Amino acid sequence: DWTPQSFVEETVAELKEKLGDDKVILGLSGGVDSSVAAMLLHKAIGANLHCIFVDNGLLRKNEFQDVLESYKGMGLNVKGVDASSDFYSALSGVTDPEAKRKAIGKVFVDVFDEESKKVKDAKWLGQGTIYPDVIESVSVSGGPSATIKSHHNVGGLPDYMQLKVVEPLRLLFKDEVRRVGSTLNIPANILGRHPFPGPGLGIRILGEVTAEKVRILQEVDAIFINGLKEDGLYDDVWQAGAILLPVQSVGVMGDERTYENAVALRAVTSTDGMTADWCHLPYDFLSKISNKIINQVKGINRVTYDISSKPPATIEWE
Ligand code: XMP
Repeated sequence: DWTPQSFVEETVAELKEKLGDDKVILGLSGGVDSSVAAMLLHKAIGANLHCIFVDNGLLRKNEFQDVLESYKGMGLNVKGVDASSDFYSALSGVTDPEAKRKAIGKVFVDVFDEESKKVKDAKWLGQGTIYPDVIESVSVSGGPSATIKSHHNVGGLPDYMQLKVVEPLRLLFKDEVRRVGSTLNIPANILGRHPFPGPGLGIRILGEVTAEKVRILQEVDAIFINGLKEDGLYDDVWQAGAILLPVQSVGVMGDERTYENAVALRAVTSTDGMTADWCHLPYDFLSKISNKIINQVKGINRVTYDISSKPPATIEWE
């Protein structure tokens, strides 16, 4: 029978055998999958695992610092690289959703490649690919959905890197990954977190992405996510976040007329992200969060709640 303990024992033994004294490079994202993959590799090869955590300037508020601290606390050999300004430059003037994804993916590969080169004689690239990623990238490359979106986490690195790929979670589903992670004593703040897309807030800002828009969206998102946590709703939601809309509308603050941006809040229930229902969050909660956002975040005067399910809507707006 499959148990997380037996999976850990068997996988660590296999990794030791396969990797010997080789060095492995792994990109951490702050998410569950890459963190669990890293801890398995760390258990097998220790300091020969070189982790790289890139700040793309599109993470949640304080996420880079907080998560980097957690990783260090887990004993991982991790280097944090702040490349925000490279990402913002590449995104300047770009409004098309696929073009934004490509720009973000390209800078990520460039930064990661640059950092990888600093690890002498690395032979392997570790990845947190899980079973649904494998299925989705196969069907995407073969089917009419090929251009729906370009996921840059599967097989997205250039051939010239000449690294062999090691993917210890390739056969697992998300709930199994979480169980394995908890056997490995990965902190709850990493293990229990909602999925977050690789291109981050870049696909939750419709239209051009700028540092200022990111800052505004980070504030909105933090109020929403912290609110879910404070009210004990976070774990009932599969994924939540906020979207900055390229729409301005009239509002009134005191006796002043305002003409500012609208945001959408999105929260869904799902098991794998392939289908999803909008979450029936309590009206009192939505009302409290809406007031907080409008009162505290300068530049936002209207909050909407997305009541679309997937399909036909997707989770991200892009
Ligand atoms: P959609 O918007 O297609 O999203 O309904 C389904 C799930 O996938 C996440 N997502 C991504 N995750 N890299 C990722 O690691 C990506 O490029 C990416 N794009 C979407 C999305 O957040 C949702 O959980």
